[in-house]
Order: sequence, then C-alpha cells, then structure tokens
Amino acid sequence: MNDEELISMAVEARARAYAPYSGFPVGAALLTRSGQVFTGCNVENAMFGLTVCAERVAVFKAVSAGERDFEALAVATTPGASPCGSCRQVLREFGRDLRILVADTEGNSREFTLQQLLPNAFPDWSLDGRRALDAGE
Ligand code: THU
Repeated sequence: MNDEELISMAVEARARAYAPYSGFPVGAALLTRSGQVFTGCNVENAMFGLTVCAERVAVFKAVSAGERDFEALAVATTPGASPCGSCRQVLREFGRDLRILVADTEGNSREFTLQQLLPNAFPDWSLDGRRALDAGE
C-alpha cells in the first residue's frame, strides 16, 4: 500500500459521505502498521452537533477492530482541507508520528506529521505541568 493507493482509498471513501447539510464530503483512509486499511467518511445528522468526521470514523473502526498502531492517514476533500482540531486530538491518542496525507480531488497532496499539525499537544505537558497535575492543582 503506497501513499497514492491510500489517497485513492480516501477519495473512494469520500464518495460514501453522508453530508446533506454541509455539502462537504470528506473521505479518510487509515493505514495500520499491520498493513490493513480502515476507511471513513463524514456522517452528518439533523442534530448538527452529532456529526462525526471522516477521520474519526476511520480511527474508531480501526480501534474497534483491535488496531491501534497506525502508519499513515489520507484525507480527501475537494479543496484539500486538513483534519480538524478534534480529529487531531483523537489521532494523537494513538501516536504523535502519524503521517498525514492531505489530498484534494485534483491529484494534489501535502504531507504532514501529526506532531506538526498538533504541536505541544495534551498530554505532552511540560515537567512543570506534570508536577501540577500530580499535585492536584
Ligand atoms: N469534516 C470532516 O469529516 N473532517 C474534518 O476534519 C473537518 C470536517 C466534516 C464534518 C462535516 O460533516 C463537514 O466536514 C463540514 O464541516
């Protein structure tokens, strides 16, 4: 599974998005270190806040299948949008070095690490911050 194939799977997943409210379909494809791919699309809801992003659908499918070790995530949108803050934090739960391929639907992509997209993340607290937590402050 190379990066182009992973991006293609994200583009295919995007076609399955349920996004009648925003009209903004998103597809994701998450490659595990064991070589499996879990795809996701955004699933919206009439109660807008219940919408789940494509990236989180892919992560939750993978984790619920017993996979927590991830190599790369491809995300496909028309303009090449990068993952939202909530998804970055969910991805951070399973590692900081994840490669993220942000693709548009014209064949262009940019690569980041999760560490680049979410620097100084919780729970990467400083030593002082950890002391404060340990002290219950
Ligand atoms: N969306 C995603 O699926 N992933 C993101 O990282 C950002 C936003 C979805 C949520 C909603 O269905 C639509 O895009 C517009 O925000």
